[in-house]
Amino acid sequence: MDKLAAIRQPVLQEMAQYKALFDNALTHDDDFLGQALDYVRRRQGKMMRPLLVVLMARELGDVSVDSLRSAVTLELLHTASLVHDDVVDESGERRGQRSVNAVYDNKVAVLVGDYLLSTSLLQAAMTGNIGVVEIISRLGGTLSEGEICQLANIRNEAITEEAYFHIIHHKTAALFAACAELGAISAGADAEYVARAKRFGEIVGLCFQIRDDIFDYYADNRIGKPTGNDMREGKLTLPAIYAINNADNQEVRALAMRVKNGEATADDIAALVDYTKAHGGIEYAQRRMEEFHAQALSLLDTWHNAEVREALRGYIDFVVERSL
Ligand code: IPE
Ligand code: IPE
Ligand code: MG
Ligand code: MG
Repeated sequence: MDKLAAIRQPVLQEMAQYKALFDNALTHDDDFLGQALDYVRRRQGKMMRPLLVVLMARELGDVSVDSLRSAVTLELLHTASLVHDDVVDESGERRGQRSVNAVYDNKVAVLVGDYLLSTSLLQAAMTGNIGVVEIISRLGGTLSEGEICQLANIRNEAITEEAYFHIIHHKTAALFAACAELGAISAGADAEYVARAKRFGEIVGLCFQIRDDIFDYYADNRIGKPTGNDMREGKLTLPAIYAINNADNQEVRALAMRVKNGEATADDIAALVDYTKAHGGIEYAQRRMEEFHAQALSLLDTWHNAEVREALRGYIDFVVERSL
């Protein structure tokens, strides 16, 4: 976490204020719901999204209460999406502890996710800015579209990068884009600046998900969530898509189809992972991520606050290098 601590340095006080607001939003008197929310709050995650909101606002001047509320709203939406995502992905671990669906069950996880989502909207409403409410409401839809499209894509015979980028754009990059966008809006930026901030967030989000998808090809318990899950769920991500499409190998295609159809054995999955690694899939995904990384860095050049620019440089470096 050391790198992240350094990145937070220019906005330490604001992040503490953010955390107090976040914790306050997640308290409930009802015994059962209160306990479940406490359980979610116990592990705070990396707080990448609120950090982006706050750094973006600081770039432009002072971090206002609306900036902090936007950060809370976005992290709540992110948390809701994770609680639901673990149901969808049938995943038993999140942030180094058992997922909500594993500790309780799917029914509780769906309802806790719903509660988090509506709390996110309430926080958006508390900014008094209907534009913020609209951005968050649309964003909730976009994240769901990404997750649904990913499910639909499993059943699709075609294996394309286009579908992959469409999915990660919706399920992940749109959220990072909204963080930078709302950070800028809450600091009173003009439309041209807001658009540039949004583009920066979007590129960071694409890097973030590509890095996350690479994790899945390696066993590593530092991450705090299971790896090897994607293919077990029938999902082919950028490294495998590249390796499969780059060879005219009917056997590999048949293997990929078994993975997509949920008919693959553990040996089949291990074989496709090995094939992907042996045929440059990981390097390719890394290369694509580096291209986005470079684009994000070039956008930073136009920003004024040197301390924030350095922090954002560290932020995007962390996103592409991270091991958690
Ligand atoms: C996990 O995001 C979901 C993805 C987009 C891959 P994070 O890795 O930021 O999750 P936390 O909040 O730190 O647990
Ligand atoms: C991340 O989903 C995006 C959302 C939660 C909407 P993933 O399924 O790819 O991420 P992890 O690996 O479970 O964190
Ligand atoms: Mg998942
Ligand atoms: Mg998922």
